[in-house]
Amino acid sequence: MSEVLNAPVVADVPLAPFRPGPAGTHITIRSLTKYFAGWPLYENFDLDIPKGKIVSVFGPNGCGKSTLINMIAGLVPIDSGEILFDGKSLQDTKIGYVFQNYREAMFPWMRTIDNIAYPLKLEGQSKAEVDRRMAELVASFDVKFDLNRYPYELSGGQQQTASIMRALAPKPEVLFLDEPFSALDFEMTLFIREKLQEVFMQTGTTMLLVSHDLEEAVYLADQVLLLTKRPTRVAEILPYDDARPRTVETLSEASFVATKKKSLEIFQREVRR
Ligand SMILES: Nc1ncnc2c1ncn2[C@@H]1O[C@H](COP(=O)(O)OP(=O)(O)OP(=O)(O)O)[C@@H](O)[C@H]1O
Ligand SMILES: [Mg+2]
Repeated sequence: MSEVLNAPVVADVPLAPFRPGPAGTHITIRSLTKYFAGWPLYENFDLDIPKGKIVSVFGPNGCGKSTLINMIAGLVPIDSGEILFDGKSLQDTKIGYVFQNYREAMFPWMRTIDNIAYPLKLEGQSKAEVDRRMAELVASFDVKFDLNRYPYELSGGQQQTASIMRALAPKPEVLFLDEPFSALDFEMTLFIREKLQEVFMQTGTTMLLVSHDLEEAVYLADQVLLLTKRPTRVAEILPYDDARPRTVETLSEASFVATKKKSLEIFQREVRR
């Protein structure tokens, strides 16, 4: 047999060309692989995340919802694969992140207003630019509390509102939210959920939201991304396109109820698998 035929096959296999997502895709994830302690969490995972939409991530406990958004946001390293934002790398993309634990998310020694302005100052914006952006944010969030207070002087809901304002201050291309409401009481959850929807309608920022509350996940979503148990795959992606703003009435509309039911069925199927 000739030398050529005996050559390792792998050397002759061309690298798969990068496969772009369909029109309207913002984030493309290709062949994403992530192991923890020798066990696969994601293996050759592909996903397209649309631009200017809210995608709610829902799935069984420990299936890797947080890890997924943290890998996309660059907070957790990936083993291999590729994640591109409009064809660009994370380094060339402006992102914002809202943490579940708002109490630890802000600098306690800075007034709330300075916390929110912090990323703008970090970008080197002038005082006039910062002031202009802060005025815009205050108007769009319709802030009723005193931003000159320190974060610990505010209620949980007010602190989380401030965290979302800070994340949006530099006008990120993508906003990540990992269970942003789960440390809030019911009243505050409703309040911030509405604020988030309002801001989304004003800005059209691509948002990736992890929620463990199925009703909330569907209510805010343009797409519900349902994940399987680990090794994690996409179980299904359900579109949900009721008009915004969605309101209390939305909750009893047939399309909402049907999407929620379908999501629950897929979730239960995956949990039992
Ligand atoms: N740093 C780590 N080291 C080892 N294992 C980890 C690490 N981070 C996460 N894991 C494991 O990876 C899996 C996914 O974790 P992750 O927190 O992403 O899940 P999740 O879907 O967000 O869970 P939850 O529903 O509890 O929020 C879990 O089994 C978890 O134990
Ligand atoms: Mg999580």
